[in-house]
Amino acid sequence: MIRRTPTVDLATTIGSLRLPNPVCTASGTAGHGDELARHLDPAGLGAVVVKSLHAGPWPGNPAPRVHATPAGMLNSVGLQGPGVEAWLEHDLPPLVATGARVVASIWGRTVEEFAAAASLLADAPPEVVAVEVNASCPNLEDRRNLFAHSTTATGEVVDAARAAGRPLWAKLSPNTPELPEMAGAASGAGAEAVTVANTLLGMVIDVEARRPLLGAGRGGLSGPAIRPVAVRAVFDVHAAHPGLPIIGVGGIANGEDAVQFLLAGATAVQVGTATFADPAAPARVLADLAGWCDRHGVREVAELVGAAHVVQGSADREESG
Ligand code: DHB
Repeated sequence: MIRRTPTVDLATTIGSLRLPNPVCTASGTAGHGDELARHLDPAGLGAVVVKSLHAGPWPGNPAPRVHATPAGMLNSVGLQGPGVEAWLEHDLPPLVATGARVVASIWGRTVEEFAAAASLLADAPPEVVAVEVNASCPNLEDRRNLFAHSTTATGEVVDAARAAGRPLWAKLSPNTPELPEMAGAASGAGAEAVTVANTLLGMVIDVEARRPLLGAGRGGLSGPAIRPVAVRAVFDVHAAHPGLPIIGVGGIANGEDAVQFLLAGATAVQVGTATFADPAAPARVLADLAGWCDRHGVREVAELVGAAHVVQGSADREESG
């Protein structure tokens, strides 16, 4: 049997950054370095986004930190990490050696801590192609006051991250009705793209112990359970800011899931929770996406971006008319 090789152009543009394909890892699910390299070729992905880094080492939250939930998982790792300096010295070199394009994710408890982490990244090698600003981690002490729940704070942390001297992606929270406003604030402060979205705030109660199950109480819900929320979030942000590149993330486990996000308006996607069940998931999603495009006569993945909006727009008009 003669098999046709797919002739799909998978390249995507995220602000000033051109990636060979739109499938990246999601922060927190691919380790800090080359942990996934035994299961897939990191250089074959669009980019590898590493677990969020604080300026200094951070121990994270008490156990248990993760718990399986229906079609997903709840986690409160608490941003455990080696700190930017140790990461640059120990974790980054083996990852760079794989040929991967690396996106460093950073977090802080204050604007100053974001600035400190970003400044330490200023001397990172050029393989660190962008910095993702995690303005939306749910597992800090004041969980309702995420930076990404305030346009001012979102703007401030993005502005602080300019010190890294790289393209900035702002990772936003789905736990606010004002997501499009947050995206506008991030863009206004200099973010070239927004990552939509982070985990949903959640909790599981251990009924025998009559207490929250996770060591830290609350956690972030991820996986297929949140996919429709994330797709809607991407759709809303694209509708409000059609020119702003979006990296879509939330429960992507196969090629069709990725296509949904692209049609909603994402120019790239991240695969996260699926990686815990199948460490090769990001590579599988990429291969699946290419196959889907080939079967559907899609020559360039860029054709799909935002394509769901035309139909939806007319449906909206009919409903309101
Ligand atoms: C953690 C960080 C996140 O950004 C998230 O969405 C969930 C968990 C953490 O490390 O606790």
